Amino acid sequence: MRYEIRSGGEVSKVADGLIFAAAKAQDPLTVTAVVALGGDRHLCCDEIIVALDGAEIVGAATIAPKGESGADMPEIVGVFVMATHRRRGVGRELFVRAIERCRARGLVPLKATLITRMMRVLVKKLPADALRDVQIVDHSHMSPW
Ligand SMILES: CC(C)(COP(=O)(O)OP(=O)(O)OC[C@H]1O[C@@H](n2cnc3c(N)ncnc32)[C@H](O)[C@@H]1OP(=O)(O)O)[C@@H](O)C(=O)NCCC(=O)NCCS
Repeated sequence: MRYEIRSGGEVSKVADGLIFAAAKAQDPLTVTAVVALGGDRHLCCDEIIVALDGAEIVGAATIAPKGESGADMPEIVGVFVMATHRRRGVGRELFVRAIERCRARGLVPLKATLITRMMRVLVKKLPADALRDVQIVDHSHMSPW
């Protein structure tokens, strides 16, 4: 399995299209788009880092330059990997690349809110330097996962 991970507006446009189109619910791109940009996220996020398996988006991390509320510090508001592609390092890679992308854009310090235990374990395993300008808000205890 080969993954290419990239950032850019081109893919987020595709994702936006799927959110508003009547695409099949289980289509991997639909699931990724809804999770990554669902709710109000398409309003607060201006960039999405995606993991591609061939042409298929199998994971995503979203960047909100002013946080999820639109009036806060920069934030990575969602990291999601398709269930079929988990535990292969994709989520870690997406999260680290989203942080690096924020740094490259001057979006530091930034915030990441952990809402699941899976994500908390992932973050705990990262070297301290990877998180040097990231404020981690841990809400994972509220999630059953
Ligand atoms: C959380 C999520 C993004 C992780 O993606 P992933 O590609 O499976 O993660 P990785 O393979 O990079 O895992 C990195 C490390 O995190 C930990 N981890 C990830 N998923 C785990 C799980 N289900 N149980 C225990 N540890 C887990 C492990 O330590 C793992 O390292 P290892 O496989 O060498 O043991 C993915 O499970 C997901 O999309 N979950 C649903 C959405 C979600 O919870 N998003 C986070 C919101 S804050």
